[in-house]
Amino acid sequence: MNTWNKLSKEQINKRVFEALSQNVNYHTESILGVPGSNLDDRVFYSNADFLKDAPFLSTMISNPNHIGCHTLDASESFFRGTHAIEKELIDICSTDMLKAEPDSCDGYVASGGTEANMQAIWIYRNYFQKEFGAKNSDIVILCSEDRHYSMDKAGNVFCLDVQLVNVNNDTREITEQLVSAAISEAKNSGKKYFIVVANMMTTMFGSVDHIERYIDALKAESCNYKIHVDGAFGGFYYPFTIESHAYDFSNSEISSFTLDAHKMAQAPYGTGIFLIRKGFMQYANTDAAKYVEGEDYTLIGSRSGANAIAVWMILMTHGPFGWQEKIFILQKRTDWMCNELKTLGIEYYRHPQSNLITIKAEQIPDEIAKDFWLVPDNHDKPRWYKIVVMDHVTIDRLSMLVDRIKMLK
Ligand SMILES: Cc1ncc(COP(=O)(O)O)c(C=O)c1O
Repeated sequence: MNTWNKLSKEQINKRVFEALSQNVNYHTESILGVPGSNLDDRVFYSNADFLKDAPFLSTMISNPNHIGCHTLDASESFFRGTHAIEKELIDICSTDMLKAEPDSCDGYVASGGTEANMQAIWIYRNYFQKEFGAKNSDIVILCSEDRHYSMDKAGNVFCLDVQLVNVNNDTREITEQLVSAAISEAKNSGKKYFIVVANMMTTMFGSVDHIERYIDALKAESCNYKIHVDGAFGGFYYPFTIESHAYDFSNSEISSFTLDAHKMAQAPYGTGIFLIRKGFMQYANTDAAKYVEGEDYTLIGSRSGANAIAVWMILMTHGPFGWQEKIFILQKRTDWMCNELKTLGIEYYRHPQSNLITIKAEQIPDEIAKDFWLVPDNHDKPRWYKIVVMDHVTIDRLSMLVDRIKMLK
């Protein structure tokens, strides 16, 4: 732990307002060549008194553009103050949270998990093309059947096939044999290069892939591969539930991560975090982006700097121990609910390091599922319903669901 230290509200305000003062000021300076401005002050009350205690809203109103990737050499100097906070945020996520060596990673705040996963797949596709002369038809995205659908979206956008690895229906686990079978199928259809996306908590089950099973099978089959971790849901959760695990940058097999702050970190939407070891971001450089200082290595282009500030503020408010405590409470609530379901004889899946409980649909009437907004795996013909134990999902609320189920018995 080095950059990530709990800060007081006053320290946070000071840091953000200092950063804003280092950005250009559209009101006081002659900024004539930028197709951007402060938010329209006939609508957004830029002079409201409360703003001096509201660093996030003040950042939104001053509207810095965080276009590009600020962990590389150069980036737009207009907004250097808030860019520096985003850089610090990327450092906290890669170094303090995911044990990377200092200054060994690049990254940026993407629009969400979809974009961050697509960014990784884009980079590795270009890497295989550039370094090995691969054609799109030689490259495959390898991931489990419980993957998020952004892998399928990426396959479509980047013209790559997706090869699924089956999972065990009860444990939701991949096995080395299942990975090998998927690799053989891909090889039989001419695939030579593997972009592997491992799940650090899946969308529907919260399951975590045994990453070593991917690695063992890929090595046994002498595959050329790169591994990205989809921690869109689990990134701010799973690493805080367990003393030691394989999902961080100390695992040299992993090259990149997606972590979504707008899920478990309760940040505003638009806060997907993309992290990658240095040396790879360059494969996504659009060098035609000549008017952007530092060029553009991201899928998104222009994006709000307020998003990076929001995530930084959240992490600094809690600090590492506060974060550990927050996750500990969610784990305990999830344990409580699982015990209740067990007592009631309701069948469910839960990974022990997760706050997701996925109940077999036949175990719960549709009406109850609807009343409690339980999300199905499939709206046409649900096979599973999930409970996601978030900050607002207290034991009081969970107990209401338990009481409804008890009334059926
Ligand atoms: C595991 C996982 N990956 C990716 C995503 C996509 O994230 P977003 O909706 O932020 O694009 C989700 C969303 O639920 C997810 O659960």
